[in-house]
Amino acid sequence: MNEMIDSVKCLKGIVDIPGDKSISHRTVMLAGLASTPVRVTNFLSAEDCWSTVNCMKALGVKIQHTGENQLVIKGNGLYGLVEPDEVLDAGNSGTTMRLLSGVLAGQPFFTVMTGDKSLRRRPMARVIAPLTKMGCKIYGREQSRYAPLAIVPSDTIHGINYTLPVASAQIKSAILLAGMFADGPTIINEPFLSRDHSERMLQAFGVGVKRTGLTVQLSPVRELTAPPVIDIPGDISSAAYWLVAATIIPGSKLRLRNVGVNPTRTGIIDVLKSMGANITTYNHRQAGQEPVADILVESAELTGTTMEAEIIPRLVDEIPVLAVAALFAKGTTLICGAEELRVKETDRLRAITLELRKMGAQITETADGLIIEGPQSLTAACCDSHDDHRMAMAMAVAGMASKGVEITGAECVNISYPQFFSEVRALINS
Ligand code: S3P
Repeated sequence: MNEMIDSVKCLKGIVDIPGDKSISHRTVMLAGLASTPVRVTNFLSAEDCWSTVNCMKALGVKIQHTGENQLVIKGNGLYGLVEPDEVLDAGNSGTTMRLLSGVLAGQPFFTVMTGDKSLRRRPMARVIAPLTKMGCKIYGREQSRYAPLAIVPSDTIHGINYTLPVASAQIKSAILLAGMFADGPTIINEPFLSRDHSERMLQAFGVGVKRTGLTVQLSPVRELTAPPVIDIPGDISSAAYWLVAATIIPGSKLRLRNVGVNPTRTGIIDVLKSMGANITTYNHRQAGQEPVADILVESAELTGTTMEAEIIPRLVDEIPVLAVAALFAKGTTLICGAEELRVKETDRLRAITLELRKMGAQITETADGLIIEGPQSLTAACCDSHDDHRMAMAMAVAGMASKGVEITGAECVNISYPQFFSEVRALINS
């Protein structure tokens, strides 16, 4: 599908931010392992999260779609999953495949898990290596580097003390989930703090999880005690497009409602503010174990900045749209320590460089980041999404803030933000 985005005079209005993708996945998995039913509100109704729902259903969990963005999940307990009679399909979702690997590694039955073309090219050794150390039997294509993955029952799973080679919440979470089924405690050390939704939610389900600095320790459990209701906060990674668009389009003023502001995710706000953005968070509250706020963003003049390895996990999915912000900022923006972007849904450093160049941008791609001198003026162009939702939405922001853009393969926004283009049209016309 091609999407035409016109140049926008200014953006004004209110956006209700759809549910957080990371938290939606974790909710379905943990509720599916609990012994009591869980009602879920503000679930992210998008393709990635439906992949997790379908996998958990195939594993015997009863999941009813009871209303718009609402689910009722009835698990059969921590040891209640059943052997699926089909291959599990994680679609485009790295979170589904990696986190479920941890769950499935603890099961007394055989499973095979695959995904789409993009996911079958993404590195899986990063979860297979620690899970194998725990005694799990999990194998993949090309010497266990890629999916499809086959997971075979193992007699015992051992707790490990593991230092993550990269700051990745997906690897950390896979190990923590497998650790629930282990014969002793699991300790994980991270190079930098990555999103801690799993730790928070495991605690909410009664699991003993303790964090000290960059180390997290989990004790095995026999049962998960679920909270009766989980209200999922809006996804700051979806709010990111509005934060940047309203900042760089003069005269804009947007209120973003119900945004998760977990400090392990708010790197985008910190960076945009350090660049001069006019962003205010207010109405702070809690949605269960997660902090939530509303955000007011008004247009502002930006100056370039530097983002280094330590902050990258706090804004890892926002780098494509931050690259767009950098084009509108005065001076140099340096992004380094971001080599993880090369193994996302597409190689995002390559893709953002290629596509923004089509709009006339000058960008230097480095091994681990980008160098952008601003401000630059962009021209209208036809750009490709590389079948990557975050690319499609970042290109749309670039187009809105300049001379417009045509985006090919735009349907990939359904992965995380199906209403994105209708929201753009509503804001322009209101
Ligand atoms: C996610 C973690 C991040 C992020 C992804 C979602 C998660 O990946 O890019 O979109 O839900 O844990 P890594 O943990 O591989 O960095």
